[in-house]
Amino acid sequence: MKIVIIGGTGQIGTKVIERLTAQGHEAVAASPQTGVNTLTGEGLSEALAGAQVVVDVTNAPSWETEAVLNFFTTSTRNQLAAEAEAGVRHHVAVSIVGSRKMAGSGYMDAKIAQEDLIIAGPIPYTIIHATQFFEFVPWIAQASTGEDGKVRVSPHLFQPIAADDVADAVVRAALGEPAGAIEIAGPDKLGIDEAVRQAVPDADVVSDPDAGYFGADVDDTSLVAGEGAWIGKRRFADFVAR
Ligand SMILES: NC(=O)c1ccc[n+]([C@@H]2O[C@H](COP(=O)([O-])OP(=O)(O)OC[C@H]3O[C@@H](n4cnc5c(N)ncnc54)[C@H](OP(=O)(O)O)[C@@H]3O)[C@@H](O)[C@H]2O)c1
Repeated sequence: MKIVIIGGTGQIGTKVIERLTAQGHEAVAASPQTGVNTLTGEGLSEALAGAQVVVDVTNAPSWETEAVLNFFTTSTRNQLAAEAEAGVRHHVAVSIVGSRKMAGSGYMDAKIAQEDLIIAGPIPYTIIHATQFFEFVPWIAQASTGEDGKVRVSPHLFQPIAADDVADAVVRAALGEPAGAIEIAGPDKLGIDEAVRQAVPDADVVSDPDAGYFGADVDDTSLVAGEGAWIGKRRFADFVAR
């Protein structure tokens, strides 16, 4: 089966391509690096010719409010239009657990807009709402570092997941039937502050219940998956140990 991975050169995309190729599928990486740009439409119809499934694991180069909203809306509109023309039967995208609870944050609003376009669009879909990737925790620390060098992060719970588990879930979705919205998460719930302390041991972490998460207010329910979520098998402690 031909499956086009938009963002196939990225963190999740690379792993998805490896897995699908190993299973004998024609997995095509589509991104600016391979001559496909979902913002301008360059190379999109050519890449999608003969594809049955499209996986969108792109991310925006800038997370500034207007830029990120423009990225996810323009990119998604262009993908869905090209998919309709190419006869694609399943659009799979990765979003974020709790995105709608965190409306008002620029990045989350952009992901919600992406989800809304997919839901209203012409292609049967699976939207995989994932929790934060283990590999993202050092970036949370970096983004939360103040001028005083202190890392102010929330002690509220989250449920991080390994990028490898995300890739496994994306592959399963891509090879399955359109499933609507689903959630995936890791096996451990812990405070964001605790995770940063473990993953970035030299960080000067201050636990701040009002720190929020990338501009959104959070509580102990915002960033954890609901009942029925698919739970990955890789443990955060093993990631930290590595
Ligand atoms: N990080 C987290 O904790 C987390 C949690 C839940 C969900 N997610 C979601 O997971 C998704 C994938 O994240 P990731 O970390 O794998 O992303 P990533 O490593 O930053 O990769 C981004 C990909 O997007 C491609 N891209 C950028 N601009 C493009 C354009 N104009 N046209 C086509 N492709 C373009 C890049 O291509 P080039 O290599 O060619 O530049 C790259 O392949 C994102 O949508 C994110 O919202 C992330």
